[in-house]
Amino acid sequence: MERTLVLLKPDAVQRDLVGEILARLERKGLKIAGLKMMRLSDELLNEHYSHLVGRPFFPEVKSFMQLTPVVALCLEGIDSVNTVRAICGITKAREAAPGTIRGEFAMSVQANLIHCSDSLETAQVEVPRFFKPEELFTYSDALEGYLYNSSERE
Ligand code: PPS
Repeated sequence: MERTLVLLKPDAVQRDLVGEILARLERKGLKIAGLKMMRLSDELLNEHYSHLVGRPFFPEVKSFMQLTPVVALCLEGIDSVNTVRAICGITKAREAAPGTIRGEFAMSVQANLIHCSDSLETAQVEVPRFFKPEELFTYSDALEGYLYNSSERE
């Protein structure tokens, strides 16, 4: 099963939306493989946002992500990377589709509540960046037979 990284950003924490967002992801059928709260260090953010280093908004993105601890999640499911991206909506939250997390609850490009891996390759780098192996769990899901059919589970 594919795994993807999600961060619930400081605006989600401050706006008391952690439970709402988590509930939406859970109800979709995504399985929680890892879940923790953490403060993001300069070092970790420099690595995580290294593709944004030259952008004028880079310092602000970093300081925003350090305003409060964030909630880090590793979610598992078939095509979980693309599924989570679809549930989140586009980066510019005020233009995100209604029904998506950003489309329902946010207005900003920066304060857009949630970070999610943008491809499987990125997820494979981002999950171990935020979770040690012992913080990730493999367990059987009693309802798996009701979430996927047998050929999907092969
Ligand atoms: S970009 O411009 O294509 O690189 O944008 P994107 O990859 O979608 O976004 C990367 C992260 O940077 C944040 N972002 C911004 N913050 C402040 N101001 C502006 N203009 C801005 N543009 C993008 C955005 O929230 C993305 O954060 P993550 O954590 O990846 O969702």
